[in-house]
Amino acid sequence: MLNLHDALKQTNIDPHLKEVLDTIAASCKSIGGKLRGGALSGVYGSESSENVQGEVQKKLDVVANALLKHALLSNRHVAGVASEEEDDVISGGDEGRYLVTFDPLDGSSNIDINVSVGTIFSILPTSTPGSQVTMDDFLQPGHQQVAAGYVLYGPAITLVLTTGNGVDVYALDYDGDFYQTHAQIKVPEATQEFAINMSNQRFWEPAMQNYVADLLQGEEGPIGKRFNMRWVASMVAEVHRILTRGGIFMYPYDKREPDKPGKLRLMYEGNPMSFLIEQAGGACSTTRMSIMDVVPEQIHQRVPVVLGSKEEVERVNAYHQQATS
Ligand code: AHG
Ligand code: MN
Ligand code: MN
Repeated sequence: MLNLHDALKQTNIDPHLKEVLDTIAASCKSIGGKLRGGALSGVYGSESSENVQGEVQKKLDVVANALLKHALLSNRHVAGVASEEEDDVISGGDEGRYLVTFDPLDGSSNIDINVSVGTIFSILPTSTPGSQVTMDDFLQPGHQQVAAGYVLYGPAITLVLTTGNGVDVYALDYDGDFYQTHAQIKVPEATQEFAINMSNQRFWEPAMQNYVADLLQGEEGPIGKRFNMRWVASMVAEVHRILTRGGIFMYPYDKREPDKPGKLRLMYEGNPMSFLIEQAGGACSTTRMSIMDVVPEQIHQRVPVVLGSKEEVERVNAYHQQATS
């Protein structure tokens, strides 16, 4: 069986990038180890602290962030990191050419109930090698990413990775190594499964309300087919389902906090997941434009996210276009 290290060796990506990916995989293995122990690892429950986005931090948010941050900053190829759980960007070594952004623990509300959670990462090139990084270095649109992926801590620990040449899946074996289980996975173009937090329905824009109302009408409505619904509340788990069997995932703009463009974060969630989904033949949108074309103004910026099977993402875009024309 092909392990991650050998699989990366077979690609023609920069060897330094491979080392950064090895570091991420090793850190995620440690995070997975903490999760395996559950309450025995002492990582359940909340800290008294809030992150920069005003969210109460779970113990595992803090532990996972520290693990990834320290491992990455010890890798001389990392010029700097930005994390959902850090106020500012942090500089790494002067010779590093890669910037890593990450959501150390995605799906925090699921930690204490032993439901799947994940780690999401995105790697960008630095345009100013040899100097201390600033926030400006990170403010690149998603189409500049050189690699992205996630680790899903579910019944199996699974690494899903793109370096811009399709999407491959690895599973963590008992021997502590990630082995490739699926190469070049593809998102089915059509789907009959959607994922959205329906409890926010009344806060959505009219076009999103109309689209979901039509989905719910099934074969009797204008879309003409019956839909099933899933909501895990861990984006990693939703994206993994979509990469495996298709579907559409939506976290649209809503007016609970009218000044925020959405709940999910562009640089830690929207961009890496869009890179994976597009590399697997799916589509991604803010409802107005391609997620990976959004030029970030700050690292913690939020974005409306619609991603998954092409036919449905295009339908969502059409509902929004119609509403503005
Ligand atoms: P995080 O735990 O990193 O803050 O992200 C949680 C995100 C995402 O994983 C999930 O899709 C969504 O928030 C769940 O939101 P609801 O609480 O509205 O279900
Ligand atoms: Mn998240
Ligand atoms: Mn998180």
